[in-house]
Amino acid sequence: MSTAVSSRRLATIGVIGALTLQFVASATAGPIALPGCPENCGGVQVPYPFGIGRGCFHEGFNLTCDEAQHPAKLLLGDGVEVLDISLPDCTVRIQTKISWVEYAAEFNGSWSVPAPDGPLMVSTARNSFVAFGCNVLAKLIPYGTVLSYASACAAACVNTPDVSSCSGVGCCQTSIASLGSDLPWYGIQVKHLEGETGNYYHRAVFIVDQDWFSRVEAAMASNFSALFFGNRFHEKVVMVDSVPVVLEWSLDLIRDAGLFVLSPIGPQSSDFRCLSSNSFSYTIIGNYDRRRCNCSHGYEGNPYIADGCQGTEILTSASCQIFTHVMEPASMCLGHTDAHQRKASRAFQA
Ligand SMILES: *[C@@H]1O[C@H](CO)[C@@H](O)[C@H](O)[C@H]1NC(C)=O
Ligand SMILES: *[C@@H]1O[C@H](CO)[C@@H](O)[C@H](O)[C@H]1NC(C)=O
Ligand SMILES: *[C@@H]1O[C@H](CO)[C@@H](O)[C@H](O)[C@H]1NC(C)=O
Ligand SMILES: *[C@@H]1O[C@H](CO)[C@@H](O)[C@H](O)[C@H]1NC(C)=O
Repeated sequence: MSTAVSSRRLATIGVIGALTLQFVASATAGPIALPGCPENCGGVQVPYPFGIGRGCFHEGFNLTCDEAQHPAKLLLGDGVEVLDISLPDCTVRIQTKISWVEYAAEFNGSWSVPAPDGPLMVSTARNSFVAFGCNVLAKLIPYGTVLSYASACAAACVNTPDVSSCSGVGCCQTSIASLGSDLPWYGIQVKHLEGETGNYYHRAVFIVDQDWFSRVEAAMASNFSALFFGNRFHEKVVMVDSVPVVLEWSLDLIRDAGLFVLSPIGPQSSDFRCLSSNSFSYTIIGNYDRRRCNCSHGYEGNPYIADGCQGTEILTSASCQIFTHVMEPASMCLGHTDAHQRKASRAFQA
């Protein structure tokens, strides 16, 4: 919903505008990390519950910063690079090597998040499973589940194609089946596609951030075909050998009790808030204990730290009351962006 108010309308209530000008407050940035803890590493923001060093992270969210590299690299577990962390989305993007399967008729492998006992899982919503190769059948098999239905894709080849997309010729991709909750582990199986002939022995399989992949798909496919189908052998080509993957985390009401304020704040007993005031928690996929946090409407910042959520509204509640008598929408008092704020300030000054 748009909350823009025309300056003409503001001009008609110029007297009230002048009175309330002193209450116009700019949104201040709240804390990102715990006091005394690093807020970023190599330009990547490290918001709590993630943290670097003793006393700086919530259990399961330990990261390290490799300052020996230039720029410094934020790392998860045994040296896996972290590209970015999003608090509102509850995602961590990491950079991982792709698996090459060469000169083997069949391959069984696995893909796991860096610390599989922790809170991070492979996002089924945000990743794709991709296989490059000819006459290849690739399966991604949920690990440790009783019902193991796999996501599979297959790529055939006719002669030596010049591949420019992953649509089943020289390359295939599929979304990843969701079994209700995300998993930290998958098995990967690569086989020769039955009934197809042809000696193509180079295959690459990987889980990948689907947004990123859609941007490089054509270039990667073209590089793969240049490398292995030899139709552009005069060019010096390399294919990227690592790709971003999106991980998601959630909290557990019991295990992570320290991050919740365990007293009901709303009409339902499930309305727990998180450590910051003006925050709320919400359940994911209907599981009462699995939760994520967000700042309340009109607030932004880190809901996992006391006072992490800071108001973005431009008027104090006292002046909001004056305004709501004079004009609608009353939502003027909630959820303003900087643009709205600048516009409103200009109108007041006019
Ligand atoms: C954090 O993780 C690193 C690497 O996994 C480990 O060496 C370090 O001891 C951990 N730090 C703490 C305080 O647990
Ligand atoms: C959490 O906040 C983000 C950013 O403000 C918003 O996009 C998202 O829809 C919110 N999620 C919920 C469940 O309210
Ligand atoms: C891969 O796993 C399948 C199913 O468990 C098994 O039948 C096959 O022999 C394995 N192949 C290799 C090369 O280990
Ligand atoms: C494709 O090859 C070019 C030239 O070698 C390289 O610069 C580029 O990074 C490659 N892109 C991908 C997605 O592999």
